[in-house]
Amino acid sequence: MKTNKLVISLMTILLMMSFTLWQQDKKPWNIPDKYKKMTNTYTDDMDDLIDYGSDLYAKHCASCHGDDGIGDGPKADELKSYPGDFTTDEFKKNSDGAIYYMSIVGRDEMPNFEKKIPDEEGRWAVIEYVKTL
Ligand code: HEC
Repeated sequence: MKTNKLVISLMTILLMMSFTLWQQDKKPWNIPDKYKKMTNTYTDDMDDLIDYGSDLYAKHCASCHGDDGIGDGPKADELKSYPGDFTTDEFKKNSDGAIYYMSIVGRDEMPNFEKKIPDEEGRWAVIEYVKTL
């Protein structure tokens, strides 16, 4: 019995350590100038836009980023890179243009969404939704 408890505690510690390492492994994004200055022009009805963004997020993003945007979607376990946590102060410091680039252009395991979300309004909808998380 005692050995079992020890093994379980050790396993838990190891799992926690590997998760922390995974989170720290995050490399900074290099946002091209063209994107840095981009801003949302679809601001007439923000509630409507965010509603639309919420649907797009559930369809395209939640599988990896999780419903709450903390990076715990059902597919997250299969990823080599940590998808990030949209709820942190650090994430909220990103400019809209930077979020646009990361969300729509992507890199490596973060897919490109230029084809799947072809309309600019949809792209900004999903960005505005991510900012509410
Ligand atoms: C297949 C899994 C997957 C899907 C689906 C996905 N992402 Fe990602 N996302 C990632 C991964 C992995 C990263 C980290 C990539 C890196 O750092 O190289 C990431 C990073 C990001 C980042 C940067 C986070 C940060 O803190 O640096 C944003 C923003 C983002 N994704 C938005 C989105 C949006 C919006 C959608 C839906 C339109 C989406 N992602 C769909 C896997 C995914």
